[in-house]
Amino acid sequence: MTLLQREREIIVRNEYIDNFDFDEVKEFISGASKNLFISHHFKNSTEMLVQPRGGFPTYDKVFELYKEFKDANVDVLPLTIDSNTRLNDYATAKKMLALSEANDTDMLNGYPLVNHGYRTTRKMITHYDTPVSLRHGTPDARLLIEIALASGIFEIEGGPITYLLPYSKNFPMDKAFLYWKYVERVCAEYSKLNEPINRESFGPLSATLQPPAIVIVIQILEMLLSLEEGVKSFSVSFSQTGSMLQDIVSSNVIKKLSRYYADKFGHNDATINLVYHQWMGAFPYNREYSDSLINTSTVIASMIGADKIITKTRNEAFGIPTKEANALAVANVKYTLGMLKGLPKVGDEEEEENLTNEVHEILEAVFNDGADTLWRQVFNSIKKGYIDIPFSPHIINANKVITVRDKNSNIRFFKRGNVPISDKSFAFEKSKISLKDGDRVVDKIIQDIGIML
Ligand code: 5AD
Repeated sequence: MTLLQREREIIVRNEYIDNFDFDEVKEFISGASKNLFISHHFKNSTEMLVQPRGGFPTYDKVFELYKEFKDANVDVLPLTIDSNTRLNDYATAKKMLALSEANDTDMLNGYPLVNHGYRTTRKMITHYDTPVSLRHGTPDARLLIEIALASGIFEIEGGPITYLLPYSKNFPMDKAFLYWKYVERVCAEYSKLNEPINRESFGPLSATLQPPAIVIVIQILEMLLSLEEGVKSFSVSFSQTGSMLQDIVSSNVIKKLSRYYADKFGHNDATINLVYHQWMGAFPYNREYSDSLINTSTVIASMIGADKIITKTRNEAFGIPTKEANALAVANVKYTLGMLKGLPKVGDEEEEENLTNEVHEILEAVFNDGADTLWRQVFNSIKKGYIDIPFSPHIINANKVITVRDKNSNIRFFKRGNVPISDKSFAFEKSKISLKDGDRVVDKIIQDIGIML
């Protein structure tokens, strides 16, 4: 038995799950419908795939949610996992699930997949015969992804950086890297049986004034860490920045450089997809404004040629959307996409050159770290503040980078901290910022965070 298989046997021997039958799961995945694999749709579809988010505590409510989504012509179904499960607190998830079932109220903010188990969940997934994407935020997702894959969920979101720095304060980062290595290996193994399992990174990060260079660096690093373990289908992603120009520039650079680095590291056979998140920052309370924001981001997703768009709803400012509001959002995005065919390709050479340089400069510093493995180089680079994301709660994040918007709403480095971009790149960033004499940076930041309110 391989070392990995021994670890897997230990992980699934858990008091909250029924007996896990590895042979049966392997057989199920080998014979599973191609429709369940998003990688299959990426390969064969010329249209942008549309995916909402969503998850409720009970099986019946998720079943109803999926029905609503299917009626709205959804391409990819989501399964959003509740916060207790994300923190591996299956005991609380179990209690809250029981209360939700008994009282017909939602006591969890998502679906406690581990407690429901794969035998039950698989019935729903195979019934709809539509790809499902696992949305969570879990630093130790080993058990969760075993249950997800066994259920027929063949896209796994997350990664050791993007599901840690924005989500956790104290979770040990070295453990996160090793636990995600397990996830990549399991996905790689199952990818040999049928169509590939798709892995997707989470580009929005803390969703607050993230510098595109840092987002792209992290996307490329998580991609490399995944491909290194044998994953063959990977989605890089980022979220609407608040500047159409910056989104277009980011998309051109992320497409070009993710392919470049994948090839450079010998992964020519891997497929790389681009995912675009509709606005992930603070939403307006005005539902009409929300509709406008959402429509604009659908236009941008078309302009950048995203392979998949992840939708928001007009209820974002108020909490978890009803199934009706969520499905309506999908239908509206589909409607808008219908108007946006064959758009002209636009760009900005100077901006693209600067962003390209920044990404190369940071990655060069990461790869020059003396550690013997890529994950350790990345780990050290985060500790040194080479990779530093604004508004991370994590104790290891350097928190030295400060960003503000320029007059066209592009996000710019105001302070670069230890991020190893060159003086030339930094000077370009600074040249775009116009702070009036006497303006306090903190006021500008607050204003810039609330740009869509
Ligand atoms: N159902 C629907 N949407 C959800 N989100 C989070 N949990 C759920 C859920 N259970 C969405 C919200 C949030 C984003 C990260 O995911 O829109 O802002």
